[in-house]
Amino acid sequence: MPIDFRGSASQSLASPDVDGRAPQKGNLPGITELKRRKGATHDLTRHQYYFVLGHLAILETRSRKQRPPKMSQNIYDTPEFFANYSQIRRSREGLAGAVEWPRLQMLLPDLTGARVVDLGCGMGWYCRWMREHGAASVRGIDLSENMLTRAREMDEIGGHDGISYERADLDKIEVQQQLFPESDTSTVDFVFSSLAVHYFVNLPQLVPHVHRILKPGGTFVFSAEHPIFTAPSGPGIVEIPVPRRQGAETGEETLRRVWPLNDYQIEGLRVTNWLADGVRKYHRTTASYINILLDAGFELTGFNEWHPTKEEIEANPLLAADHPNDTIKPTFLLMRGTKKVPQ
Ligand SMILES: C[S@@+](CC[C@H](N)C(=O)[O-])C[C@H]1O[C@@H](n2cnc3c(N)ncnc32)[C@H](O)[C@@H]1O
Repeated sequence: MPIDFRGSASQSLASPDVDGRAPQKGNLPGITELKRRKGATHDLTRHQYYFVLGHLAILETRSRKQRPPKMSQNIYDTPEFFANYSQIRRSREGLAGAVEWPRLQMLLPDLTGARVVDLGCGMGWYCRWMREHGAASVRGIDLSENMLTRAREMDEIGGHDGISYERADLDKIEVQQQLFPESDTSTVDFVFSSLAVHYFVNLPQLVPHVHRILKPGGTFVFSAEHPIFTAPSGPGIVEIPVPRRQGAETGEETLRRVWPLNDYQIEGLRVTNWLADGVRKYHRTTASYINILLDAGFELTGFNEWHPTKEEIEANPLLAADHPNDTIKPTFLLMRGTKKVPQ
């Protein structure tokens, strides 16, 4: 019997993105889209649907492997992306619009008198917050001139000082070495990064620098798009028919909302259409994030897979509007590594 997948997942069933914006384009293709791509003229059965879907996933994986990234993209300096990014809630409201912030905040150390580095600082929302909460100095580093200009403007309006901004490509190995020279050892109390590391292919090379510049007992806290979010070639919620009860003899089916996961173990480039077409991000597994920290010498001292509870969604209109699907899967990975104190 042909199956009605209610059109493309990129339409009404898609999850809002991590920044609470409109659903992504280019999500898991629906039955109509599959038929168009394969030139099919007949209805597809469920079996055929999954066969074609798997076939497309293999082709997409192959084409990804054939196109290794050459340089950092700097999508935030393209007019279309930046105009759209400026409209999302967290760009307008700062930390009040960042749904994961209350739980991320719980991982932060005491900032009194701290020297802080913010990797991929963007518009400087966290730099300002950390200065307001006791940090002696904050060094914000970002690739985007647009983001840094906005950060400096807001610092000026708010009368913030003690924050320095540098424009640099944190994903370039030689730039990492220039930013954090070997002589810079045990000078920093806290390194922070919010939603930037999934843009870095060379994160494993960057984190040892972070470890070296931290004082013993210092911490590195970062958030990233959750690997369950970054893995699929077409992220988005779909409805699929499943047996009403496992093992039910009747074979009755009911529609269930699910987050299709594919290519979880295939780390590397993902091209998504978020706020603009062709946005490049890097998927890595949760295990890889943990091992990058451990391999650099950190102890894992904080870990959270952010998603709201049903009660939180019901109680918070912000969550209800932007993250109605986030009870189905986690959206953010929050981690803290602590530099060991020599015994
Ligand atoms: C989602 S924004 C987050 C901004 C800020 N941390 C926040 O949470 O408000 C990601 C930031 O990472 C920066 N970024 C991406 N790739 C980068 C790179 N290779 N080097 C430095 N910054 C980069 C972008 O320019 C952007 O400002």
